[in-house]
Amino acid sequence: MNRNALHSVLLVSAAAFSLFGAACADQEPKPWALRAITRDYTFPTRDDDGKVVPEGLTVTAGDLNKGRRMYVHYCYACHGMNGDGRGPASYGLRPLPRDFRTGAYKFDSVSDGVPNDIDLVRIIRGGLHGTAMLKWDLKNDELYHVIQFIKTFPGLPKGTPDGPPCSQYGEATPECTAKLAAYPDSSIEDHIPSPFEVIIEKLKKSEEKLGLQVGQPKPTGEPIVPQHYDENGGVVVDAPADPWVGKEAEAVKKGEALYHFKLQCTTCHAHYLTRTALYDYQIAADPQAVVSYRSEMFYAIPQSNAKALFGVATMPPDFTMNPLRSIRVGSELPDLYRLIASGVGVMPAWAQSAKPDELWALAHYVKSLKDLQLPSNAQKRDALKTMLHADMFVPPAPVKKEEEPVVDGAAGGGEADAKKAESGEADAKKAGDKDAQKPGDKKAGDKKTGDKKTGEKKTGR
Ligand code: HEC
Ligand code: HEC
Repeated sequence: MNRNALHSVLLVSAAAFSLFGAACADQEPKPWALRAITRDYTFPTRDDDGKVVPEGLTVTAGDLNKGRRMYVHYCYACHGMNGDGRGPASYGLRPLPRDFRTGAYKFDSVSDGVPNDIDLVRIIRGGLHGTAMLKWDLKNDELYHVIQFIKTFPGLPKGTPDGPPCSQYGEATPECTAKLAAYPDSSIEDHIPSPFEVIIEKLKKSEEKLGLQVGQPKPTGEPIVPQHYDENGGVVVDAPADPWVGKEAEAVKKGEALYHFKLQCTTCHAHYLTRTALYDYQIAADPQAVVSYRSEMFYAIPQSNAKALFGVATMPPDFTMNPLRSIRVGSELPDLYRLIASGVGVMPAWAQSAKPDELWALAHYVKSLKDLQLPSNAQKRDALKTMLHADMFVPPAPVKKEEEPVVDGAAGGGEADAKKAESGEADAKKAGDKDAQKPGDKKAGDKKTGDKKTGEKKTGR
């Protein structure tokens, strides 16, 4: 409370300062979406080889103003007149409407930079299930205009006369701070996007990594999974051919193993295997594995690092219960392929750490879990949940290490020796070394795959 009070004093003085400043300048600057755009915009894009073309796309002021009007009709209520995600209808929404000033998106399919137009078409036409972001049935040209207009929110060089008041690289000016202070819901701490500076720092770092000039608009990213338009302007995901057609059950089995072990999706997402099944899997792969389970293993772990870019911590969905936001009806498998390959928000892209057949297997596995949401599968889903929670299996103490002095009469020693003999001395020694370094680590049996998440997106997401 105290802190809030201090906060308000600071903010009120900032507001007063800005009002005074505005009065001097005769009028307060209009919100960005109410200002007529008076010049053409040139956005950087990429050519077919992925090279950045600084002046790849020019959009006329006329088209941008058409987009601006569409935005004021359909989008500002949630995304805000200044693109900050704080429109009048945004209060209390979870997830928060996207703050377009940051240029950070979740459901694109690019490795860096801002989404390609086709990503935005897919998102806006398809909607994001389970969120306030509905499907928008706009005509092709309307959609094109509004997408180009959205791109004017971030990335304008600091000091551009017609830049939005809180532009991506602008500092937290008094005007900007006052705007945030005026937000009626600002007492709810997590409704205030994290400090502007944090976002700016993050973006700057990602820009520098890309070798871009900080303060310039970001180019569209290199697609990880390409897409094309169909004849109706719908978006088709160009995933490589699915190698599991006719062998779906096998794909689900393989996906299950990748999900729980090799790729460790369970560091964030819930487990869907019982304690016993997880143990059996690991002991089959490595008889010396030290098996342990994370706490709350049947629940996902909220990702608080998402706060910096998306305003609130994000929760990995439970595939058997929650709507999958960007997975479109009728295009489930290719959409899952695209999503897993290219990541979402703070979830890394997996395209580099998994081969296409593995990505497809994961898509089949996640779809098999998603299918449990069908009303006809309600019993099956309940049975799975009951089974998961009922199994209280405790793994037996791990096999004794070879180097340890044998204590006379130690229980189970004979059995351990027999196991070691079975699996060969060299293996046993290796496992012993590993155990010595990381006792109780679940990953011990999972030969060095834990740190394979190299596909992490480079952009500030
Ligand atoms: C009723 C509120 C609401 C309206 C109106 C709305 N949106 Fe959204 N929009 C949201 C929410 C909420 C999200 C964030 C969803 C999430 O993070 O899962 C979002 C996200 C987005 C995203 C980001 C997707 C990503 O990959 O990160 C885009 C682009 C978008 N909206 C465009 C639009 C456009 C264009 C319009 C107008 C035609 C519009 N929205 C109207 C609520 C709304
Ligand atoms: C670092 C944590 C993390 C890891 C590891 C992770 N995810 Fe996620 N995943 C998330 C979060 C967070 C979300 C929700 C994103 C959001 O709403 O912003 C998510 C969402 C998803 C979605 C739903 C997308 C949608 O459209 O709603 C799928 C499918 C998914 N993850 C699959 C996977 C698979 C498969 C793996 C392993 C290969 C994996 N995830 C690993 C954090 C993670």
